[in-house]
This record gives sequence, C-alpha cells and structure tokens, in this order.
Amino acid sequence: MNTEKPAKTAKTAKAKVDNTEVATTVTTSVSTLLREHAESQFAEELAELAKIDTKQRPPNWKLSPWAVSTYLLGGKLDNGFEVSPKYIGNKRIIEIAIATLTTDRALLLFGVPGTAKSWVSEHLAAAISGDSTLLIQGTAGTSEEVIRYGWNYARLLADGPSMAALVASPMMRAMADGKIARVEELTRIPSDVQDTLITILSEKTLPIPELNSEVQSTRGFNVIATANNRDRGVNELSSALKRRFNTVILPVPDSADEEVEIVQSRVESLGRALELPAEPPALEEVRRIVTIFRELRNGVTSDGKTKLKSPSGTLSTAEAISVVNSGLALAAHFGDGYLRAGDVASSLIGAVVKDPVQDQLVWKEYLETVVKERDNWKDLYRACREVD
Ligand SMILES: Nc1ncnc2c1ncn2[C@@H]1O[C@H](COP(=O)(O)OP(=O)(O)O)[C@@H](O)[C@H]1O
Ligand SMILES: [Mg+2]
Repeated sequence: MNTEKPAKTAKTAKAKVDNTEVATTVTTSVSTLLREHAESQFAEELAELAKIDTKQRPPNWKLSPWAVSTYLLGGKLDNGFEVSPKYIGNKRIIEIAIATLTTDRALLLFGVPGTAKSWVSEHLAAAISGDSTLLIQGTAGTSEEVIRYGWNYARLLADGPSMAALVASPMMRAMADGKIARVEELTRIPSDVQDTLITILSEKTLPIPELNSEVQSTRGFNVIATANNRDRGVNELSSALKRRFNTVILPVPDSADEEVEIVQSRVESLGRALELPAEPPALEEVRRIVTIFRELRNGVTSDGKTKLKSPSGTLSTAEAISVVNSGLALAAHFGDGYLRAGDVASSLIGAVVKDPVQDQLVWKEYLETVVKERDNWKDLYRACREVD
C-alpha cells in the first residue's frame, strides 16, 4: 500500500512535465506562429554573427556593437554568410543608436509614424540581449505598476509582502538580468508616470519600499524608448527625463529609390511569411504606389512642377507596405496571382482618404490632374474611378 502512493505522485508529476513540454513546443514551434520574435526568426543570422564576432562585447551583450550593426544593416560575412538588412537607410543613425546603448544614457527613437522605430527597437534588443520581449506598451492608461512592479494579491493577502508575492515588470526583469527593456510610445504615458523612469535611468535602481529593498541593475541593462512626433505636446517629456535619453531621429526615407527598396523587401518577406499564393509585385507597381505616397506627402509632384495639397494622414512607408500587401492578398485569392491596379486601388484610396471631406477633395484633385495625365497610369486611373 505504502509503495503505491509515491508511485502515483510520480506519475502525476511526470504528466505535468509532459504537459509543460507540450506547451513549450507549441509556443516555440517555427511554422505555427503568426509572428515570431526577432531573436527566433533570425536565430541563424544571430548565431552566425556570434560565431565570427571577435570584437569586444560590452558587459552582458550577446554581440559586439559592430556585429549588432551588421545584423541591423545587413552584409556579407567573411565566410560568405549573408545577413539580411533589417533597416534600410542611413548607417550612421544605427551606429549612433548602438553606441548610445553602450553608455549610461538610454535611447529614444523619435520620428513620424511608420519610420521603423518599433522595428529597429525590437531588432536592437534581439541582437544585444537575445531577448526583445521585455516590452512595456505606453498608453494613456499605463500606470506606475506597469513600469515598476505589481503584486499577486492572493499571496499578498495570505503571506504579506514578500519577494514571492511581487510581480516583476519587464523593466524590473531587464534590470535584474542586464538586458534591454523597451518602452513603446513613451509620450503617450502620463507625465507623472513617465517620471518613474528617472530613478531607474539615473540611479539604475528600482526601490521596493514595501520590502525595504531594491533591485539594482546588472550591467548590460538599458532602455530603448520610441516616441511619435505626431504625439508631440500630448505628454511632453519632462526635461529631467529628456536628459537621460539620447534622441535619435528616424527620418522618412530620403529618396524614392530607397523607399521602393524598403517596400519591396518588406512585402516580399511578409508575402513569404503569410504564404500568399501570388507573384512578388512588379517593381513598377511598387514604384507607382511609392511615387503617389511621396508626392502627396511632399505636396509636389516628383518633377517639381505641380504643387499639390497634402492629405491629413501620414502616408508612411509602413502604410505603403500595407497597401501593396493587401493588394497582393486580393490578387492571390480573387485575381490571377499578379498584382494589378484594381487590386491596389481601394486600399490606396483608404490610405489617402482618412478624413471623408477634406482628404476626398485632395484625392480627387490628384487623381484628375496627376494620375489621369500620366502615360502608363491609365489602368490605375480607371481602377480608382471604379472604386469611387
Ligand atoms: N527604413 C526602413 N527600413 C526597413 N523597414 C522599414 C523602414 N521604414 C519602415 N519600415 C517598415 O515599416 C514597418 C513599420 O514600422 P514600425 O516600426 O511599426 O514604425 P513606427 O514604430 O516608427 O511607427 C516595419 O515593418 C518596417 O519593416
Ligand atoms: Mg511604433
């Protein structure tokens, strides 16, 4: 009788282990996840870089600053291995961002929506800490608890405050483990809550008054925040907090060629990930969308001859990517598998016309004065007229 009991316990324990094993496999399986974290999606690139990286690594960094920058900007390694570019644009911007993270100042990525702030932040954290998940999403409702720590109330009531009853925030875990913490949309967080970051960034410690204790940062800890200049004035950063950050501005792509390259490469990899049964879009179609975005954004045609009114939306590169991607989905499932003007027309108009009155007028004028008159744009003109 006595021998049976432990056997049973052992069995339940085994089953539990099996369960967790199943659970872990499910969440890390490559093919079933809709979106992988950068560190798993690009695990091979990160491993190859680590293998050949002989340069000095800052304390607790997985790679040297040089290797982190190669991971972000792409390049061919000496052994022939090809690292894909994540950020397309000015190399110096990425180098300044990485260099900042080796100092005691935090990094603030600033710019208009859709300039790859979140994207760069995720890849930097993945390359530096091997972990891009220590993330705090800034909203008007973000509380101090979200940045510092919370409590498991059942345990708190049962046993009183203790380390075991404390629920660490991603920030606290990053500090303890010497990793990069990410704060998205910093300026959407109410100002008094933002200021919680001051002690963390200047003293590198997170006090826990309830336990008369603190969490001190391990080396390697730093913060990457992103902020949108469209939110300027919403919750302006206090000057005390601003001083703790080095601000790096991510610009709208300089040239049309650069923007076409960004859209083309992102659409290709998204199409692959979503397994869209369509041909990658013709460069000409991408160029046409990017031209429309740039002309409306800049308020002038690309030849500089005609002044245009700009619509209220941002018309970011990210939106151009979604216009092409939605078009590709239409082409794949309801067309002939090739991206045609009719497939992009409705999402193009959706991106431009955000305000039904003002933007509609801007779009109509652009359609009739610019799109209609261009050689080889007749199909697009007709398709857009049909949507209206
Ligand atoms: N310069 C760029 N290089 C590579 N990808 C870019 C670039 N600009 C925009 N993107 C793409 O745009 C998308 C949106 O970027 P995101 O980081 O969400 O913008 P933000 O946070 O600045 O609003 C990402 O998928 C990213 O790949
Ligand atoms: Mg963002």
